[in-house]
Amino acid sequence: MKYNIPNHVAIIMDGNGRWATKRGLKRSAGHLEGSKTLKKLVKHALKRGVKVLSVFAFSTENFKRSKEEVDYLMNLFVKMFKDNFKELKENNIKIVFSKKESGLPSKLEEIIKEVEEDTKNNTGGIFNVCINYGGQDEIIDMTKNICNKVLNNEINIEDIDKNIIEKNLYQDLPSIDLLIRTSGEYRISNYMLWQLAYAEMYFPDTYFPDFDEAEFDKAIEIYNKRDRRFGGIK
Ligand code: FPP
Repeated sequence: MKYNIPNHVAIIMDGNGRWATKRGLKRSAGHLEGSKTLKKLVKHALKRGVKVLSVFAFSTENFKRSKEEVDYLMNLFVKMFKDNFKELKENNIKIVFSKKESGLPSKLEEIIKEVEEDTKNNTGGIFNVCINYGGQDEIIDMTKNICNKVLNNEINIEDIDKNIIEKNLYQDLPSIDLLIRTSGEYRISNYMLWQLAYAEMYFPDTYFPDFDEAEFDKAIEIYNKRDRRFGGIK
């Protein structure tokens, strides 16, 4: 593909539940299938030259789902981070997590720390997993961090700029170039509000479990047809 590859791609992985229901399966089967799709997509996106891939794995609001579904997802995350992420580590991928400081089961919090520690020196692209994440909470937490630094005389109010704000978000990542939300829903649902400022948006009808490598390439193709002006005039 001779395409201009977006530096940072973010995916709202929507439609796992509907994918399963359509097949007469339990919603959990959709999440399992989604996890297999994700594993393939991470490798594919970074191979295509994407430098940062962010995914929305679990929002702060997703805790409102049934206990059965939340427990299933938490166990699936533990299993994925423990077993399947080994291969990403071996592929030199740095894995980071955008999340509230606490609130996930302790087993999962521990594995997250381990994965971050084990991959922190990897240089072959960044995989950012947003889990127990909300965009407004991230901005509130960033504001608290900066206020504390001002109170401790570490920074002056006049010095607060884009750079300082980004350094105090959950992760210091470049702006998102392309946001993909699968399943035909046209919302951003409190996802990476700061980072999405100038992102191109793509909303395919495909449910996430079916969003394979070819679908990802199609998203890149569509991104290449967009005219990005960042508020200027060409
Ligand atoms: C949204 O679809 C999906 C989720 C809340 C979970 C996403 C999780 C995975 C893809 C599993 C693997 C992830 C990692 C990071 C290992 P939905 O359940 O809202 O679908 P629906 O709108 O059709 O009900």
